[in-house]
Amino acid sequence: MAKYERHVFVCINQREPESARPSCNADGKSQLHSLLKQAVDAAGLKGSVRVNKAGCLDQCEHGPNIVIYPDAVWYGGVCAADVAEIVASHLVAGRPVERLVLPDACIHTEVCEHRPRKT
Ligand code: FES
Ligand SMILES: [Zn+2]
Repeated sequence: MAKYERHVFVCINQREPESARPSCNADGKSQLHSLLKQAVDAAGLKGSVRVNKAGCLDQCEHGPNIVIYPDAVWYGGVCAADVAEIVASHLVAGRPVERLVLPDACIHTEVCEHRPRKT
């Protein structure tokens, strides 16, 4: 079997409601993983794109989040209505969906304005 060309990691983390940080799957009902998987299969990408469930990706304030490797493209605020566009544009045509891409200033940096400050 050939190697996967891309991996899509979908955060399905669910925290307690009183947690200090939000979670991508706050109500436990997120369908992003299954919808992406279905759309990837329907696009004929089964075997070349793998859609994986992921725990917290530490971008909680921007969620729901997914990240696609090896492209290292992070998407935030992803909802079910975005799935078809992500698959058609990014995974089929190789063009990231810019309106959903998280800015570099938000990824693993202390300057992200959305992330709580450490005290
Ligand atoms: S809960 Fe999804 S990135 Fe942290
Ligand atoms: Zn941010």
